[in-house]
Amino acid sequence: MPFVERVFSGVQPTGNLHLGNYLGAIVNFVKMQETHNCIYCVVDMHAITQGVDVWGGPAELTRNTREVTAAFIAAGIDPKKHIVFNQSQVSGHAELAWIFNCVARMGWLGRMTQFKEKAGKDRENASVGLFDYPVLMAADILVYRATHVPVGEDQKQHLELSRDIAQKFNNDFGDSIRAQGNNDGLFFPLPEPLITGPATRVMSLRDGTKKMSKSDASDNSRINLTDDADTIAQKIRKAKTDPEPLPTEEKGLEARPEADNLVGIFAALSGRSKAEVLREFGGGQFSSFKNALAELCVTKLAPIAGEMKRLVADPGHIDAILIDGSDRARAIADETMKLSKDIVGFIRRR
Ligand code: TYM
Repeated sequence: MPFVERVFSGVQPTGNLHLGNYLGAIVNFVKMQETHNCIYCVVDMHAITQGVDVWGGPAELTRNTREVTAAFIAAGIDPKKHIVFNQSQVSGHAELAWIFNCVARMGWLGRMTQFKEKAGKDRENASVGLFDYPVLMAADILVYRATHVPVGEDQKQHLELSRDIAQKFNNDFGDSIRAQGNNDGLFFPLPEPLITGPATRVMSLRDGTKKMSKSDASDNSRINLTDDADTIAQKIRKAKTDPEPLPTEEKGLEARPEADNLVGIFAALSGRSKAEVLREFGGGQFSSFKNALAELCVTKLAPIAGEMKRLVADPGHIDAILIDGSDRARAIADETMKLSKDIVGFIRRR
């Protein structure tokens, strides 16, 4: 592979970071730091793609951007060794998204399930930005020519679209890419999704067939990273289950979505497999398992919540981290933009 391995991922500052974001994405962001150069982005431009009533307005956006940054750092991302920044500070994302808008096809975007879900029945009234969301996502990744993207299961389709865009750009501009001295004609890598661990799709605590989500009306459906110990314990105790005892083997979790979800959460938080968790708790009642799960959640999440609180109390410090991160991100993005402009044929100052 001719590309240097680099990790990129993003989280939207739309409020209520939850256990799904943590286990599906952020835990893996932390791990990837050991082996790769990583760029982690608070995607504030993606956050405004739905109505202002959804994202909450300017003050809320600023607050949420700082909160996601605080969560990254509290969870163990090192902003000195790696890059942490907010998307809108690096103009290359929007610039490359425009070029990609002219590469991607309406049909590709029309198939995106997230757009269909978020736009609902009234598609005419959805913003153009919501439709274009996955193109901006491709630009986020490819403006750094990132090769690996840790995400939860729900982002798989968007990652496939990023690969399609990279491939079509390489094909459409193949001659120009070769003329710039890149003999294999590959300018953008095809980014690989990293969807790993026992909790790539954490489900709602109220309904094991629905994804845990920021937008669920019921706060009891999710554990927020800012919840205090009592709230966490209460939400776990109230979590929906079925009347059977826990199975002793993983196969027994099939067709039991709530049990599967809780066991997956336990496995992910304790760094064990579902089979190992069932070896300990299989055959027992949910009540004792839930007590153990509540305790584990509190042990793992309370320190993060505490550290987030401390960090958001000093917004100047967080903003300085984002400014420093953007400066370093911009240096990489600007280089890709120069080369991309040459490939497309845009005249620029040299
Ligand atoms: P967002 O902000 O919705 O979610 C952030 C990350 O959390 C994961 N996630 C989950 N994982 C497991 N179970 C769940 N219930 C759950 N809910 C959310 C998401 O998969 C995601 O990894 N489009 C992205 C943000 C983005 C991005 C990017 C990601 C913008 N540009 C470029 C990667 C690369 C999103 O909606 O994130």
